[in-house]
Amino acid sequence: MMIEVEGVQHRFGAKGEGLLALDRIDMQIQVGEMVSFIGPSGCGKSTLLNIIGGMTEPSEGQVSVAGSKIQGPLPRKISYVFQESALLPWATVLDNIKVGLEFQGVDHQMREERAVKALTSVGLMKFAHAYPQQLSGGMRQRVALARALSLETEVLLMDEPFAALDEQTRMVFGEDLSRLLARERKTIVLVTHSLAEAVFLSDRIFVFTSRPGRIKAVLDVNETHPRDPAFMVSERFATLRNKLYELLREEVLATMREDMPGLRP
Ligand SMILES: Nc1ncnc2c1ncn2[C@@H]1O[C@H](COP(=O)(O)OP(=O)(O)OP(=O)(O)O)[C@@H](O)[C@H]1O
Ligand SMILES: [Mg+2]
Repeated sequence: MMIEVEGVQHRFGAKGEGLLALDRIDMQIQVGEMVSFIGPSGCGKSTLLNIIGGMTEPSEGQVSVAGSKIQGPLPRKISYVFQESALLPWATVLDNIKVGLEFQGVDHQMREERAVKALTSVGLMKFAHAYPQQLSGGMRQRVALARALSLETEVLLMDEPFAALDEQTRMVFGEDLSRLLARERKTIVLVTHSLAEAVFLSDRIFVFTSRPGRIKAVLDVNETHPRDPAFMVSERFATLRNKLYELLREEVLATMREDMPGLRP
């Protein structure tokens, strides 16, 4: 088992009297599995990802990664890709990747080697010496992914890494990620709002309820990696996507009633 979440509950605010964001979450994620979290805005997906990554301590319950209890960030085991690429604007693409490796204490020669390998795997070696502002948003996200890959952690956590990209770019990016998954046995947790992305990329999809977030359903996708683009237009894909929408629709409506009263009758 790579990730084990047991009885996690999280309440924000002083003395645990604030908002209940997550309630009784239990999940087990296998080594090499690719899972997605999907659910209405504010249901606690990012909170749970941060708890798994050791950045937020849960009010109750615990998380283990590769058998050890999480008590803080584990930069050698777990890497992150965020919605905004957060690259250093004054450093070249290659140096942006090397900085992360330097923090990990990787020696000079090895830094170069691993940065080149990671950049090659996302198809951006040609831009190694460019600066982030010379790249498109999609390319910057690829660099952010390369930076996370170069750390060679067993676990990769991604919080809406493609959210700022147009749909075509994110689908192509998704195909690349699927190929990469087939090559490297990484355990990946992806937070996404895209139904198609969740179905196309995941082995399993965790569907969350409206806040406080609970696991409403777990969908099995049962399709090997790398995923063929033809999968996206298959009947099975459509069935899964519709099922996902059916599960999510009432949760999204519940969130709207709670957080945006007056918007809908
Ligand atoms: N640091 C914080 N302090 C207080 N409340 C917070 C904090 N972070 C998040 N929350 C609240 O906890 C709830 C869950 O937030 P979270 O960011 O985990 O949701 P999410 O599912 O990732 O939403 P989205 O899809 O919009 O990113 C929200 O209602 C949010 O307002
Ligand atoms: Mg979020």
